[in-house]
Amino acid sequence: MSQKIVLTADRPTGCLHLGHFIGSLKSRVELQHIYKQYVMVADVQALTDYFTNPTRVVDNVLEVVADYISVGIDPNITTIFIQSQIPALPELMTYYMNLVSIARLERNPTVKAEIALRKFEESVPTGFVCYPISQVADMTAFKAEVIPVGDDQLPMIEQANEVVRKFNKLYNTNCLKEMKPYLSNTGRLAGIDGKAKASKSLNNAIFLSDEPEVVKQKVYSMFTDPDHLKVSDPGKVEGNVVFMYLDAFYEDKEEIASLKEQYKKGGLGDMTLKSLLNDTLQKMLIPIREKRKALTKKYLLDICMNGSLSARKIADQTLYEVKNAIGINYFNK
Ligand code: TRP
Repeated sequence: MSQKIVLTADRPTGCLHLGHFIGSLKSRVELQHIYKQYVMVADVQALTDYFTNPTRVVDNVLEVVADYISVGIDPNITTIFIQSQIPALPELMTYYMNLVSIARLERNPTVKAEIALRKFEESVPTGFVCYPISQVADMTAFKAEVIPVGDDQLPMIEQANEVVRKFNKLYNTNCLKEMKPYLSNTGRLAGIDGKAKASKSLNNAIFLSDEPEVVKQKVYSMFTDPDHLKVSDPGKVEGNVVFMYLDAFYEDKEEIASLKEQYKKGGLGDMTLKSLLNDTLQKMLIPIREKRKALTKKYLLDICMNGSLSARKIADQTLYEVKNAIGINYFNK
């Protein structure tokens, strides 16, 4: 009878790009018809990284929501909300913090890699090391059982389930639900420069909101095979970004296979492939860009406000159950 709950989130530190599109946005458009879906704009989590530059986060909240709506996430069936507007989340986090050791946090491979990347060394902010616990609050507050993630987030779910089991056992309750990761089969999209990951900070991503000329310019600057100098030269398909993007976005897989054969033999130019990719992306992005342009700030704010109000009710109910399990609901049992 009851529908399973699915929850996903993005840190609002920039507009969303084609990597997000194949990695999570497309699957959200489908999942909203199968599950009760919550999509959270993780501004609080983004601040663990950008607390010295909050406008970078604040200015991107509505941009990210505009991306959601323009790809077809339907605010009438998906609850879109803003993390900072749900006070129960940090409150839940407080109770979960007792159940996680500092050593366990520092062992989390995702956090470990991020600390190294940011060169925090001895001065890691407490808020940063603890963000996995905040993420446990995000997931458990809505009793989400299905969490679509990239493989870099698997340690987060493992850690969350540890907290859930510990809490339920310790306080003899079943108010928290264990969750399962839902891995999208599309892997991650490389940057236009050939780096493993497309991202705003590396300046190597094609954004959903990019204007046609920008998309074209990015496609034509893509990394291919540096040794493929003349059209007649044999070319390399592995590591060739144009083929990676064609694999991800071009419908006719047989045609791609035959283009790859031609390219390997020699006689197929980069420009021909780039023009095919450009046409493919332009066609795909037109309706998204048009939809995005028609959105007003007022409409986006209303979506966030209504979503946050309904998310608040659900999270408050979970918080009530959690406090009840601990025994600290003194006045409203
Ligand atoms: N850590 C996620 C990211 O960087 C964002 C996130 C915050 C999240 N809370 C979550 C993802 C809860 C899944 C579930 O993209």
